[in-house]
Amino acid sequence: MCGIVGYIGSKQACPILIKGLRRLEYRGYDSAGVSMINDRGELNVFKAKGKVDDLVAFLDDKDVSGTIGIAHTRWATHGVPCRENAHPHYSSSGTLSLIHNGIIENYASLKEKLIEHGYTFVSETDTEVLVQLIEYYKITYQLDLLSAVQRALAQVIGAYAIAVLDRSNPDEIIAARKSSPLAIGLGDGEFFLASDATPLVEYTHKVIYVDDDEIAVINRHSGVNIVTLQGQSVSPEVSEVTLDLGAIEKGGYEHFMLKEIFEQPECILNSMRGRINPDGTNVHLSSVIDYGDKFINARRYVIVACGTSWHAGLIGKSLIENFCRIPVEVAYASEFRYNDPVIGEGDVVIAISQSGETADTLAAIELARSRGAFVYGIVNSVGSSIARCTHTGSYIHVGPEIGVASTKAFTGQVTVLTMLALCIAKERNTITEEQLHEALQELLRIPDKMREVLKQNDAIASLSRTFTYAHNFIYLGRGYNYPVALEGALKLKEISYIHAEGYPAAEMKHGPIALIDAEMPVVVVATNKALYEKVLSNIQEIKARQGRVIAVVVKGDDTISKLVDYVIELPETADFLYPLLASVPLQLLAYHIAVCKGKNVDQPRNLAKSVTVE
Ligand code: AGP
Ligand code: GLU
Repeated sequence: MCGIVGYIGSKQACPILIKGLRRLEYRGYDSAGVSMINDRGELNVFKAKGKVDDLVAFLDDKDVSGTIGIAHTRWATHGVPCRENAHPHYSSSGTLSLIHNGIIENYASLKEKLIEHGYTFVSETDTEVLVQLIEYYKITYQLDLLSAVQRALAQVIGAYAIAVLDRSNPDEIIAARKSSPLAIGLGDGEFFLASDATPLVEYTHKVIYVDDDEIAVINRHSGVNIVTLQGQSVSPEVSEVTLDLGAIEKGGYEHFMLKEIFEQPECILNSMRGRINPDGTNVHLSSVIDYGDKFINARRYVIVACGTSWHAGLIGKSLIENFCRIPVEVAYASEFRYNDPVIGEGDVVIAISQSGETADTLAAIELARSRGAFVYGIVNSVGSSIARCTHTGSYIHVGPEIGVASTKAFTGQVTVLTMLALCIAKERNTITEEQLHEALQELLRIPDKMREVLKQNDAIASLSRTFTYAHNFIYLGRGYNYPVALEGALKLKEISYIHAEGYPAAEMKHGPIALIDAEMPVVVVATNKALYEKVLSNIQEIKARQGRVIAVVVKGDDTISKLVDYVIELPETADFLYPLLASVPLQLLAYHIAVCKGKNVDQPRNLAKSVTVE
């Protein structure tokens, strides 16, 4: 969570840092701060509660000069969002400033010891303990900054990406990482630091991803030197990042979320490009080609993920079980990692993550690997930690997702899972050639059908106005549409703060039906051919209790349409492909309700884009 930015070079650092913070603000946004060393050798720290705009207003009359600096936008874990708790944090003597992403788990015991040594604290954060600890080692053992950072980090349990400035060395930034992402951009005589590549691409395409337990010394004159926590030198691998700047800007849309919803037809095409023959006769994923034996002969699959990616995983379970006849379990990564799971050789773990940095998913992967399972990743962020720690994987190729509420990543994940299931089914002979062609050809038609769905944006916007009064929503779906209902409810919760629950439609009569009255909006995804009559009965049960039903139906359905209050129509497709179409109107519904309620849809309260802490 949180965004880290750093700059060292010949330009003024502050404008670059602020621009970088804006690019990373989606990662955390409850407070922000900058620290620069100016030409007079002063180490300044300025911070403000709120958004980057609040920080910019605060900087108005301050001395923000300096060609070296670090900056941070926070997602609070320890201590409320306020100026004192915002980063950067000074050390007691005021000679060091530090920014941190992550959690220092043993901060309380470290703090106690530092207090015994006479240190005082101005914030409630775990981060301030770290900067004082570095200072403690630096002063007590007369160490240079690098050695003091090494000594301090050796004491730390937890996750971090940090960057430190030292007033006595205005030519150097020291940065380090463990379980939190950190990238260094290599410019021409200048260097950039950031939590991900988004703020770097407008200056350089050459990036070094710092690995766990590595410390980077970034020197104005001698460049980047990477050492391990133990002091061994590491030769860094320079990656080429080819991110298009347009992909991280709003491009005329009011919000990133709306832009990303509208990008989905194109994104899905990108996901399928090079993997499905244009005539829909064959599908290949390089992972399945390279590790055919693992995929085809797996005794079972275990999908691990969180949030929206977990919902995609539920759809993946139905796809793999239906097409490949291999049992699939879907686990919350956060539960899996602590449940002493029965997992080992012969199991294939599918880790799904948009950001590729989710701490729980990473830990689940490490556990599965340590027990001998084969791990396949479905990831969006190229070069991310999850992409690098799995045995193999498929990128979803939907481009950077900036809106905190995941939309295009979800449909991208479902697209890859669909291709994966069909690819394995083909290899296992659990699908006929004819069925395969039919399925692939219909998948290729989905982007156009999605464009049809998007044409209902205005109608969904006006229907959304009716529901801003609601305090609760229920979402129902069956089979492949059950995870769609869960995802629709999550989207609404995240950005409109309306309480919403998703249920398998038939489960409603076992309890939730007690909630239905004339005030209760119920969204029913009713596209299933196989279970049509059943879903129809579920809708009758709601209408009998005066619930207000918004039904997502297949075009031309005049039975359900006559029964319900609002109808959203989808073009016809195969049952297993409806999640790709049906999730779009639910995204739009959540989006427009949140906009009507005046909420900040791209940066909803309490959330952050990538959850790099437990
Ligand atoms: C989605 O709208 C959420 N903000 C969240 O549930 C997210 O899907 C989850 O944190 C997992 O993230 P990941 O895909 O980057 O691992
Ligand atoms: N744990 C730190 C804090 O609460 C850092 C949080 C973050 O990653 O933004 O300040």
